[in-house]
Amino acid sequence: MSKDSKVVRVGLLGIGTVGGGTFNVLTRNAEEITRRTGRQIKVTHVADRNVQAAQAIVNGKAQVSDDAFALVENPDIDVVVELIGGYTIAKELVLKAIANKKHVVTANKALIALHGNEIFAAAKANNVIVAYEAAVAGGIPIIKALREGLGANKIEWIAGIINGTTNFILTEMREKGLAFADVLGEAQRLGYAEADPTFDVEGIDAAHKLTIMSAIAFGMPMKFEQAYTEGITKLEQKDIKYAEELGYRVKLLGISKRNQKGVELRVHPTLIPEKRLVANVNGAMNAVVVKGDAVGPTLYYGAGAGAEPTASAVVADLMDVARLMDATTEQRVPYLAFQPEHVQDLPILPIDDIESAYYLRMRVSDKPGVLADVTKILGDGNISIDAMMQKEPDENETEAEIVILTHITVEKNMNAAIAAIEALAAIIGKVTRIRMEELSK
Ligand code: HSE
Repeated sequence: MSKDSKVVRVGLLGIGTVGGGTFNVLTRNAEEITRRTGRQIKVTHVADRNVQAAQAIVNGKAQVSDDAFALVENPDIDVVVELIGGYTIAKELVLKAIANKKHVVTANKALIALHGNEIFAAAKANNVIVAYEAAVAGGIPIIKALREGLGANKIEWIAGIINGTTNFILTEMREKGLAFADVLGEAQRLGYAEADPTFDVEGIDAAHKLTIMSAIAFGMPMKFEQAYTEGITKLEQKDIKYAEELGYRVKLLGISKRNQKGVELRVHPTLIPEKRLVANVNGAMNAVVVKGDAVGPTLYYGAGAGAEPTASAVVADLMDVARLMDATTEQRVPYLAFQPEHVQDLPILPIDDIESAYYLRMRVSDKPGVLADVTKILGDGNISIDAMMQKEPDENETEAEIVILTHITVEKNMNAAIAAIEALAAIIGKVTRIRMEELSK
């Protein structure tokens, strides 16, 4: 059979939401896809625990079984698409598929963020492709952009809204004045949340995606364990409101920056100026800003989840496999964008050493000299104030709230200043601190 007429035979591991979307997109756009790749891409086998549901989707067009391990051993399959999620069985299946010289396409961010280093080493040894566009930001081709489109650049930083669930929750909190807990249930009902919502709301899902983007932006191994992760569960409605009064929006951002000391890798709620395009990414949508030294800041926006948006990325990966399966490893885009021997073990900076501007909110006894004490502590710590706002106490109350925005400082300086502020007799309770990014240069 000539190269042009060879059918690429795909085995799907899992035909749930994304698997179903992948099957439908491949079927619906088959003609257009073949025009682009010069080869037909066909799902020939499906393994899913729910055989009946799988059969209803494929409608006799592929063989269905519940034996995922048999699928990765099957000599009649060229590419395995892993869509079952999790990192235990998925890892075993992917490594078995690779050992059997099958190319792999996966949407599994946790698998790549935690075990990508081992998986890519195995793939290289077996001369197979492992493609993972769908693992980050669903339908947005951010892996393609980082690995190829921006290949001329030295990437300086990435900042992304890469979890739709939390972006939906933050949008609802801001627009409707609701508390975090009231919106979480709605996000779950709408099906945005991960099986375990902790992964979304505590920033773990975003950290998986950020880990992958940083690895290919800077040419370093996956370092998920060293990512700093802080979710949105403790965010108060009033901070979202005060931020807005000061011209900012609060977003859960995945931020990665390279400087001379190493790489910052952090996920946390962040104030960003409302005039930035990315500040206006609302609902469950995703967006990633990438700053390259040549191109400047670039913005990628789209659906970060959902059956067909994610399938769009899976199918694009399958098309890359179709084009490159007969090429050598050297002719393909490297797994981590950089040639394996040039991947560098860059240090990840501990959170104490990152540099950021800050939003601080504190409750104070409304009496003379309190503000002077607070500003003196900041001044002594060499922390410059950018803006300040005092919320007057309600009638019959003697406590006021002060909100301060600072210029950039090192996190450990801010920690020391916050501890000193909290020790003042006039400060009531804890200081609320939210990091702030300008995202302008
Ligand atoms: N739970 C994820 C999100 C789904 O909310 O963005 C896509 O990874």
